[in-house]
Amino acid sequence: MTSAHLTFDQTGEKIAERVTKMRSSAVRDLFAAASNPAIISLSGGMPDVSLLPQAAIRTATHAACDDERAVALQYGSTDGRAETKRVFCDLMRDIGVRAKPENVMITSGAQEALDLIAKTFVNPGDIVLAEGPTYLGALQAFSAYEPDIRCIPFDDEGMRMDLLEAELQRIGAGNPQLKFLYTIPNFQNPGGVTMVPARRKRLLELSDEYGFMVVEDDPYGRLRYDGGHVLPLKALSDDVVYLGTVSKVFAPGLRTGWIVAPKHVLAKINLVKQGTDLCGSAFNQVVVEHYFTDTPWQKTLQTFVETYRERRDAMLAALEEHFPTEATWTRPEGGFFVWVTLPGYVDTGSMLSAALDRGVTYTPGDGFFPDGTSGKNSMRIAFCYESPENIAEAVRRLAAVIEERLGLYRAFLEAGAIKPE
Ligand SMILES: Cc1ncc(COP(=O)(O)O)c(C=O)c1O
Repeated sequence: MTSAHLTFDQTGEKIAERVTKMRSSAVRDLFAAASNPAIISLSGGMPDVSLLPQAAIRTATHAACDDERAVALQYGSTDGRAETKRVFCDLMRDIGVRAKPENVMITSGAQEALDLIAKTFVNPGDIVLAEGPTYLGALQAFSAYEPDIRCIPFDDEGMRMDLLEAELQRIGAGNPQLKFLYTIPNFQNPGGVTMVPARRKRLLELSDEYGFMVVEDDPYGRLRYDGGHVLPLKALSDDVVYLGTVSKVFAPGLRTGWIVAPKHVLAKINLVKQGTDLCGSAFNQVVVEHYFTDTPWQKTLQTFVETYRERRDAMLAALEEHFPTEATWTRPEGGFFVWVTLPGYVDTGSMLSAALDRGVTYTPGDGFFPDGTSGKNSMRIAFCYESPENIAEAVRRLAAVIEERLGLYRAFLEAGAIKPE
């Protein structure tokens, strides 16, 4: 006897339309290849948690296992523990933002916050603005709600305000379909660039003028290796929705982040979060609280900063030494990433298998654009995870792969088989 569920095609027509449009994250796909020890990975944005002192982890988890286990193992409130919110308010004060616990919601990493915000605000066809390229996890989160994501290019000073203004003029002031602008102003993922203060100010003026919300995603702000602190957008306007996370300054495995937003915005997000997970992990919140109150976390952060600075320097020096003159790249003052742009005829997606053969991975650029076609001649390379020696070797290998492509192009050009770009 056949039953209906036996003939159900799990990959076919029953899948929701929005899911059929989703693309797998290139980074996730690369994790499998990166686990091969012969391959040096410049692809993932994983913090080096081996730098965390074991004693601090023990201190932080002790409370959750022992003193506070009755609450740590129980359901909590949807918006998170009051004590954890106070810890995050203290962290915000350090960077120039005066946040009150009533304006804070704890989330399961910044990733959940991105999903909740899109779920709360976006109808299919609504407009969302973002840097182009932008964080691919944000593209994945937003795309489930089918927005029209429009990308604004950046240069070395962050998002181009002239191009943003031109796009806003096309959209029109007060357009109800324009929902929010998503930005990573510090050491952008994947660009590595930082939005300068004058542009931050201009962005907020434009948000008032055209009527859109600004969502500021700041996972890397405390990982600065050169230059001075730049005030977050949230310090300049209470209306900004700020996303924080412990992932890059403590541990991503704890899946703990936070939103700072006006109360009326949080109230709506709270309704949505109830349907998503009821509440985040109280256990992890207790661990995070104790990490930031009972351990020398600033000292550990300093170790992170010094280690990543050395790795960044190793990458920039190797790029200078090995990469061809046709390539350009960003010079990040912090964070994890360098963005490389190659001549237009190089497709970094199809080049990846040659790179893997040589024992190096990177993330092809097109995954960081919503159309999946822009950025084909670019790539993101991460310096957060490998040793300086491995980074230098990986860049040398990558340069050889690129050189092969350029050599092929030059040969075709000389033979008259193609026209110059
Ligand atoms: C810009 C950006 N936003 C959000 C996230 C997600 O962070 P979390 O681990 O807190 O979910 C990442 C992670 O790499 C990121 O780079």
